[in-house]
Amino acid sequence: MSLRVAILISGGGSNMVRLLEDMAEPGHAGTPVLVLSNTPEASGLAKAKGFGVATAVVDHKEFGKDRASFEAALNETLKKHGVDIICLAGFMRILGAEFVAGWQGRMLNIHPSLLPKYKGLNTHQRAIDAGDDQAGCSVHLVTPELDDGPILDQASVQVRGDDTADDLAARVLIEEHKLYPRVLREFCENFVPH
Ligand code: GRF
Repeated sequence: MSLRVAILISGGGSNMVRLLEDMAEPGHAGTPVLVLSNTPEASGLAKAKGFGVATAVVDHKEFGKDRASFEAALNETLKKHGVDIICLAGFMRILGAEFVAGWQGRMLNIHPSLLPKYKGLNTHQRAIDAGDDQAGCSVHLVTPELDDGPILDQASVQVRGDDTADDLAARVLIEEHKLYPRVLREFCENFVPH
């Protein structure tokens, strides 16, 4: 039985594209059933449609400060599509403890740093400012604390002396595109429903 995977995005969705490409390969234990964005402007939505994957928008702006209702709407949409596993891929909303608890062990995220370093934003500039010689990305299970859950795998890149944050982000993104599909593939193969 194939696992039903939803990918949550907010932007261009380059990681989403790589996940969709990989799940299209024969023998993958996951099937993409939904790409969901919290904003109608996410250009990744059109790319998902190009793959023939169902898309949905749950616009956080319509809920104002009412995060509980936003998350209830997210869950309703995920349930409608029979989702087993969530991949956050550039999804720029913080999810509350209750929502996260409902998806414990079934929600993955990619973060552009070598966690536990540099949780949150501006990861590349912070790595440069700290004089780190390695930067990278991590795929982890999502827990209520931001960017804090068990790390499933990481990939590193060398920081160069003249790197800007954009330079580093571009090289890390290349690694993200290899890491996330590989981790999702292994995760689906070893997934034991509870
Ligand atoms: C990636 O760097 C990801 O690690 C971060 O946001 C960026 C999303 O890029 N969380 P994309 O939308 O997958 O192109």
